[in-house]
Amino acid sequence: MKLLVTGAAGYVGSVCAAVLCEHGHEVVVIDNLSTGNRDAIPSGARFIHGDVKDLAASVLGEGGFDGVVHFAARSLVGESVEKPEEYWHGNMVTTLALLDAMVANRVNNLVFSSTAATYGEPVTVPITEDFPTSPTNPYGATKLSIDYAISSYAHAHGIGATSLRYFNVAGAYGMIGENREIETHLIPLILQVALGHREKIFIFGDDWPTKDGTAVRDYIHIRDLADAHLLALNSNIPGTHRIFNLGSGDGYSVKEVIEMCREITGHPIPAEVAPRRAGDPAVLIASSDKIISELGWSPSRTDLRTIVSDAWEFTRQLRDKAHSAPR
Ligand code: UFG
Repeated sequence: MKLLVTGAAGYVGSVCAAVLCEHGHEVVVIDNLSTGNRDAIPSGARFIHGDVKDLAASVLGEGGFDGVVHFAARSLVGESVEKPEEYWHGNMVTTLALLDAMVANRVNNLVFSSTAATYGEPVTVPITEDFPTSPTNPYGATKLSIDYAISSYAHAHGIGATSLRYFNVAGAYGMIGENREIETHLIPLILQVALGHREKIFIFGDDWPTKDGTAVRDYIHIRDLADAHLLALNSNIPGTHRIFNLGSGDGYSVKEVIEMCREITGHPIPAEVAPRRAGDPAVLIASSDKIISELGWSPSRTDLRTIVSDAWEFTRQLRDKAHSAPR
């Protein structure tokens, strides 16, 4: 397929774009490099630098596109509480421009990068796709609003669409992993402590209603996540918008993640309790039964040990590369 992949300089987008290229797809990337890395875009893809909202119409207007995989977005819970305008414009307005361009150019196959943050604070876990959606932060609200927009465009214009609601994506795929200028995610921050780049990790709250008082999340390996995008692209049904959760079904507390990182890295990783972070729910655990039964998704790297080991291997390689680079 000839595919437009937006946001392929980011962590999730770059791994998925690499896997799409490996499967023989022709990949055209739009990315404004606002948070991503130019180096992460696969060498086999054609890269167009700029904003999706400005470029989607002209790029899809070239013709010949079979589908779109849309990753480009702002995606930090805490930042979205501070700067909601960047999220409504960057996520919602951008996606409407993309959907309009798809309709204008009769591109009818879409996979959208959505999130568990659309559900908010769940009453029970694991979370299935029919749970009520009540986001606790602007980031989740923008992604939920986009899901509504996709549904109506799909039904009115015959687009076959899938939203994949990721839980906490982590791990690495070879030399592609989490490498952000400003890092806020738990596992890469802990690994920076293990490398000696940070003194300690702050635990955002130890008074949550959980097993050890720290927040619980469902970590999914980035490579398993990429497989789900391939499955979705190959099975979209015109005029239908499907929603699938993607997680491992297991919840790990912040303290358990730190402990696993200590085991894998052999570093003591000092930790200190800090106040809760605005917008964070206490527990997010997915049920991925729907995508397993309907699309035959079969994740093979879901255990936390594999996820942290792959992330650690990537982090060390990145450090070695930085040390060997000419100054
Ligand atoms: N945390 C800490 N200390 C840190 C960083 C994070 O205690 O220094 C905690 C957070 O409070 C949270 C957990 O670790 O409880 C995970 O935090 P992350 O920042 O790694 O991830 P989030 O759960 O905030 O968000 C991620 C994605 C979102 C997605 C969400 C869904 O970034 O896009 O998972 O589960 F919506």
